[in-house]
Amino acid sequence: MERDVTQRGGGPVTVRRGIPAGAERRAAELYWDAFGRKLGPALDPPDKAVPFIAAHLNADRAVCALLDGRLVGLAGHQYGGRSLTGGSARAVLRAYGHLGGLRRVLLLALFHRRPAPGQLVMDGIAVDRDLRGRGVGSLLIEETAAVAADLGCRQIRLDVIDTNPRARTLYERRGFTAVRTQHTPCLRGLLGFGAVTTMHRSVAEKAPEGLSTP
Ligand SMILES: CC(C)(COP(=O)(O)OP(=O)(O)OC[C@H]1O[C@@H](n2cnc3c(N)ncnc32)[C@H](O)[C@@H]1OP(=O)(O)O)[C@@H](O)C(=O)NCCC(=O)NCCS
Repeated sequence: MERDVTQRGGGPVTVRRGIPAGAERRAAELYWDAFGRKLGPALDPPDKAVPFIAAHLNADRAVCALLDGRLVGLAGHQYGGRSLTGGSARAVLRAYGHLGGLRRVLLLALFHRRPAPGQLVMDGIAVDRDLRGRGVGSLLIEETAAVAADLGCRQIRLDVIDTNPRARTLYERRGFTAVRTQHTPCLRGLLGFGAVTTMHRSVAEKAPEGLSTP
């Protein structure tokens, strides 16, 4: 599914489902640019992290934004046991070696979220730095909500860290409500944040085929 959704600044931004074949490296760069601070202790150095992320992407677990054919944003989601960023413990050990790899596997496990039944978990949203604040992130959120509706999910879940209040403001504006905050002060020194807030948004039920909604 592909939608021409808006015209902002330069050319039209197109939102579509999936990461286009050949754009895995660019997707990994965007992801790392946005989340490198958080994932650094697990996947550093960047010249190893970006190829690792690119090689283990599940391209069908994202929606993406394209500007003149170039990937400028993505939003991953986890559903049916798969998320945008893949890579088993064995793959981490293979890429980073057994000695340092084990610590990395344990750190990555801290970020793992298991969706409840009927839930789609949003799993990392990132927009090119030069295009932020122009509505692309909002479009990615709405397309993810459309994916959730098509999959028959009742709820979208995401987790936002305490050092990212602007992202939280965006989520609140897009209809997410905070349901709980887990305080992890012991991780502040290691990962740079000391609390994670879980937010939910209900998914509107899809009208049956052939029926239009008012
Ligand atoms: C968060 C992010 C995806 C939003 O994308 P976007 O295209 O800038 O979003 P929109 O233009 O639809 O909405 C803008 C709102 O996003 C929020 N926002 C968060 N970080 C922002 C940033 N660095 N620049 C601009 N807006 C940001 C603000 O609430 C902003 O509203 P404001 O301009 O009134 O302050 C993008 O800023 C980004 O990639 N940030 C780095 C990665 C990140 O923090 N991801 C979220 C992890 S939970």
